Amino acid sequence: QFEQKVGGLTNQADILNLKSEFIGKKGLISEVLKSLKDATPEQRKAIGPKANDIKNNITDMVAAKLTAIEAQEINEKLASSRIDISLTDDVKEGSSLGGGFHPRTLIQREIEDIFLSMGFDILDGPHIEDEFHNFEALNIPSDHPARDMQDTFWFHDPNAQSDEKKFLLRTHTSTIQVRGMRSRKPPFKFIAPGTVFRCERTDASHEMVFNQLEGMMVGEDISVSHLIYFMKTILKEIFKKDVEVRLRPGFFPFVEPGFELDIKCLICSGNGCSVCKQVGWVELLPCGMVHPNVLKAGGIDSEKYNGFAFGLGLDRLVMMKYGIDDIRHLQSGDLRFNTQFKTF
Ligand code: PHE
Repeated sequence: QFEQKVGGLTNQADILNLKSEFIGKKGLISEVLKSLKDATPEQRKAIGPKANDIKNNITDMVAAKLTAIEAQEINEKLASSRIDISLTDDVKEGSSLGGGFHPRTLIQREIEDIFLSMGFDILDGPHIEDEFHNFEALNIPSDHPARDMQDTFWFHDPNAQSDEKKFLLRTHTSTIQVRGMRSRKPPFKFIAPGTVFRCERTDASHEMVFNQLEGMMVGEDISVSHLIYFMKTILKEIFKKDVEVRLRPGFFPFVEPGFELDIKCLICSGNGCSVCKQVGWVELLPCGMVHPNVLKAGGIDSEKYNGFAFGLGLDRLVMMKYGIDDIRHLQSGDLRFNTQFKTF
């Protein structure tokens, strides 16, 4: 009886109803099993196993029927909603639809690989910082004129007490020097690429939001020659040719001595343009030997250890490498610009 009835059903709920009509708590088979209590032992022997067999058969039939219905539903869905996977055929390398990496990502990955191969770690840090990590631990106390060198975006809370911790958008990746030192023991070396923020007027070589790549190496007997070696290596690897550089004294409270490494402008070959402000040289790599006060703030024994640090201007490096004549192109989001670089 069950087999006959279930054959005509196509809907899950109807099948489950039929199932309980037969083997549910008040179903036909259950009634039979219940009635066994009044039966003779012979009757029980004859009817009991049979009723159980029927119950099992019905359970199996229901399961098979439900599986078949589910499969049919899936097949119907697949047939009615086909996905046209041929669309990707049109997306050719370099087309405006094709994915690709931003030129800064390309250069950053290249630099990370070079430093990783030389045993450096790669660190990250927060964009929102406090005064301690951005200034104080870097030997720039609150009354230091060097604070004015870095036009800072402060988070201003008009109700704040004067002695409350003040927050800002980090003006340089040197904040990660502080975090790096405080979380490891010398000797160590790491780089830290990241976005930084300055409240500045923008022009062909300045942006309010730009990117640096910080580097730091601390150990015993580290010297300026180590610093120069690493700087030269990185520039050679990136440009794949000798580029003209010059080293001049530079002032940063967190290094002593401090240097500015400039690169001969590759946009105008040193003849003068808006990127190098007609000087022919571009400031690319401020660097120096870590000031003992900075080591101390980082929890490092400045009698025993010393080190170097640098703050590579990542966006400027990208400009020099690809001959980009305005830094503002880099975050314009203009596809005509972005798709000129190597894609997947
Ligand atoms: N943090 C400095 C800046 O952004 C650059 C720098 C880093 C200089 C490390 C020296 C050493 O101006």
